[in-house]
Amino acid sequence: MKELLQDAAARSVRYLEGLPTRAVAPAPGAVEALVAFDGPLPAGPTDDRETLRLLDDVGSPATMAMAGPRFFGFVIGGSLPITLAANWLAGAWDQNAALHRPTPGVAQLERIALRWLLDALRLPADCTGAFVTGATVANLGGLAAARHVVLARTGWNVEADGLFGAPPITVIVGGEVHPSVAKSLGLLGLGRSRVVKVPVDGQGRMRVDALPAIAGPTIVCVQAGNVNTGAFDPIAQICAAVQPAGAWVHVDGAFGLWAAASPALSALTRGIEQADSWATDAHKWLNVPYDCGLAFVRDPHALQAAMAITAEYLPTESPGRNPSDFTPELSRRARGVEVWAALRSLGRAGLAELIERNCAQARRFAGKLSAAGCEILNEVVLNQVLVSFGDAEKTRRTIAAIQADGTCWAGVTVWQGRTAMRISVSSWATTDADVDLSVDAMLRAARASG
Ligand SMILES: Cc1ncc(COP(=O)(O)O)c(C=O)c1O
Repeated sequence: MKELLQDAAARSVRYLEGLPTRAVAPAPGAVEALVAFDGPLPAGPTDDRETLRLLDDVGSPATMAMAGPRFFGFVIGGSLPITLAANWLAGAWDQNAALHRPTPGVAQLERIALRWLLDALRLPADCTGAFVTGATVANLGGLAAARHVVLARTGWNVEADGLFGAPPITVIVGGEVHPSVAKSLGLLGLGRSRVVKVPVDGQGRMRVDALPAIAGPTIVCVQAGNVNTGAFDPIAQICAAVQPAGAWVHVDGAFGLWAAASPALSALTRGIEQADSWATDAHKWLNVPYDCGLAFVRDPHALQAAMAITAEYLPTESPGRNPSDFTPELSRRARGVEVWAALRSLGRAGLAELIERNCAQARRFAGKLSAAGCEILNEVVLNQVLVSFGDAEKTRRTIAAIQADGTCWAGVTVWQGRTAMRISVSSWATTDADVDLSVDAMLRAARASG
């Protein structure tokens, strides 16, 4: 065992050390070579060292260098070294983090990590929280708590009786709502399309003047950080407009919520602490390994009412908080270990510096590309930059050339009718020199694409 695990560690380190100098996207040949994994189910045991060798030799070259310094696609944070180390150790612990009594160590780490998160993100200290797979499930958690409360106020128990015959719930979203919120609404029986869509402005921010009047059970989903522009809904104004009439406000802050951790950026999140529930990702801007999302709910009983289950074989009396009372999963890995390690390693100042550095790098991208004649389609308020290289065809050709060149990787989007390249700067590993190297590659690709 020792030799195998040391080999895995050595291979992992070699992989990570190679990231800054390799092409970011896997070579077509490396992807074709993946057939080596295939074949019939082995009839008997295979040598473990040989299995690890195959994984590394064939798997490593076929990865996208998302953990490296020049991956700017989607919103993907690299893993801080301490978080990968903590992940390895927690993997060795192999704890099922469902219950406090059998796994007090990880339950305690998660309890402390949640307290630190509420502090860092400037959310009310008496909120509860849950470690889930990602912001999609965090949205599901927050909205499940919302569904519970707005129906309980009418005397309806949705967990017991479902939605058949329940009073209707009005769900209000912005015109640029992230599809994961729509998916969560669908999973909760509230409907992906059965929503009131509020018109947005040119940055994707909900227009407060276009909010409908609130009547009856209502959930309003706002956004902190649009996936294209990085823009924030005017959350303070929305809360002031809808909460007096009893609406629940849920914030999808998959990456934008982390702006609250920076004194320089926290104005973007003004009023966010007035909401009722929040979803975010640690695997985005806290730079912990996949997967790790976070749901926070102001009223702990609401999330517990939506999620907790009991059974004769599960311990009902607990010396501490049972994490599974707040999560959709019963069994799960102890995601909070890496979060605790990240926050301990960075501290308040290090976290703010990471967020601010990535935002400064986004502005550096925008400044250099704009000076070279590219059009920047968004106000660069956070870590997202939308770049047009000309018409839709030229922009698509340029993005394909950038991806093939391998210096960096950024994806394509269409923002309010305009085809654009999305740059998202979300990794601790990115330096200003990486930005400059990437800008040069982008401009080279633009020139070559006519
Ligand atoms: C605003 C927003 N919400 C939700 C999500 C979904 O996050 P996840 O993929 O971690 O579930 C994303 C992903 O980028 C996002 O940007």
